[in-house]
Amino acid sequence: MKRVLSGIQPSGKLHIGNYFGMMQPMIQHAKTEDLYVFIVDLHALTSVQDRDRLRQGTLEAAVDFLALGLDPDRCTFWVQSDVPEVCELTWLLSVLTPMGLLERCHAYKDKVAKSIPASHGLFSYPVLMAADILLYQSQVVPVGKDQKQHVEVARDIAIRFNNTYGETFVIPEPEISETTAIVPGIDGQKMSKSYNNTIPIFLDDKALRKRVMAIQTDAAPVEAPKNPETCNLYALLKLFAPPEKMQEVHDLYINGGAAYGYLKQDLFELISDYFAPARQRKEELLASPDYVRQVLARGAEKARIKATVTLDLVRDRMGLKY
Ligand code: TYM
Repeated sequence: MKRVLSGIQPSGKLHIGNYFGMMQPMIQHAKTEDLYVFIVDLHALTSVQDRDRLRQGTLEAAVDFLALGLDPDRCTFWVQSDVPEVCELTWLLSVLTPMGLLERCHAYKDKVAKSIPASHGLFSYPVLMAADILLYQSQVVPVGKDQKQHVEVARDIAIRFNNTYGETFVIPEPEISETTAIVPGIDGQKMSKSYNNTIPIFLDDKALRKRVMAIQTDAAPVEAPKNPETCNLYALLKLFAPPEKMQEVHDLYINGGAAYGYLKQDLFELISDYFAPARQRKEELLASPDYVRQVLARGAEKARIKATVTLDLVRDRMGLKY
């Protein structure tokens, strides 16, 4: 059994990029591995500085995970800030983290390029993420491709720590599925809350249909052959359609006859059906927020026991016990 860990920010409506990149693999891993899943509210503070939005977002992200089928009895599921040991480890790791390592991080550079204020928190975001990963001695970290570099930073920091203070941390490995590494958004760029191009997981049918119809496609006529590899509608269909249907769609692209309007209607129906049971469960869970809080409190208690063991060892290794 491997220790598998990953987190998600409660900074907006969770979307199908989050689902295929991280949530679905995590829900599957809960069946066989020693799974750690958490809502990273401390990370979200770098972009959400509205108290009510953060509180609601955190609870809703937890509801979404449970509604999608995460079994909290078969994993450790909590909210990051409920285990404050992670903040202490962040400091302890930060003294070993070279500036250059953080300066190279794409996510930071992209955010600053988009005029997000360059706070110290935004800059040191990867160190908090390394602390998340290392505190629980994680072996495998399932993520979308955009987070690969951050997991590599965690590896670098762990190796540096082990070389300085002796074997302490497990060196984590990112796990990135080839087929879902970068789910495209409705404009063809990576689907991302910050690009405003997402298809949220939980939309009512009217809003979902509108969103799917807004997927950008080229202006080629129906009869013209098209390249499926460069079409974001095709990439999204592939996530939901059964293989026989995809073969048909593929042939239409190659030979001509692929009508984007009809394909969008198919995609809308596929997404709606796929998430229908989860939508129902989400309604039920939203009606019992105390149950969700209890699940998270139980998860935080379990997580904290592991966190304390690692932090105790780290303090000792670094000479903080005298
Ligand atoms: P976040 O909240 O941005 O995204 C959560 C997960 O969803 C994946 N993802 C995607 N995968 C494929 N295609 C997309 N378009 C897409 N968009 C998002 C992300 O790669 C991620 O796996 N820093 C992390 C959260 C975090 C974390 C951790 C992850 C904090 N601590 C420790 C792993 C381990 C983040 O912002 O993810």
